[in-house]
Amino acid sequence: MNAKCRIVVVNGPNLGHLGVRQPEIYGSQTLDDLPLLLRQMLGQASEEVELDFFQSNSEGALIDRLERAWRESADGIVINAGAYTHTSLALADALAWIGIACVEVHLSNIWARTEDPVRQKSHLGKNCLGVIAGFGLSSYALAVAALWRRWKTP
Ligand code: DQA
Repeated sequence: MNAKCRIVVVNGPNLGHLGVRQPEIYGSQTLDDLPLLLRQMLGQASEEVELDFFQSNSEGALIDRLERAWRESADGIVINAGAYTHTSLALADALAWIGIACVEVHLSNIWARTEDPVRQKSHLGKNCLGVIAGFGLSSYALAVAALWRRWKTP
């Protein structure tokens, strides 16, 4: 067991422009707000959590980051794969073999997006411990807290 719970927070395409991109759907906070928000929501537990953040618009780069997490024996992954959630068998395959506890997150509640039914399907969820959607950036904090608790009391 690592001395700290090492979690990689992975963000996929178009998530680098949070705050600017359709704030009515994805909120006005940016990815830069995420580290502090996570620390605040984790409270004391944050002392036991080491976070690493990664964002890419490329499917291959996201897979490379997951493989690196495996090489470095990360304890957990929080992933918002953006639109690749709905399309990428390759990302699902990566999660299937790396064997790292993973939580899929979304800012919006993808199941409530009935105007766009393609968003209601996730290829990744079956290879994750769970899915948290609909709470904006707080979805990430809930996911990190869940992974930390599992690491603390396996
Ligand atoms: C998203 C939902 C996806 O459908 C969309 O393509 C995104 C963001 C979310 O966090 O709500 O890029 O993953």
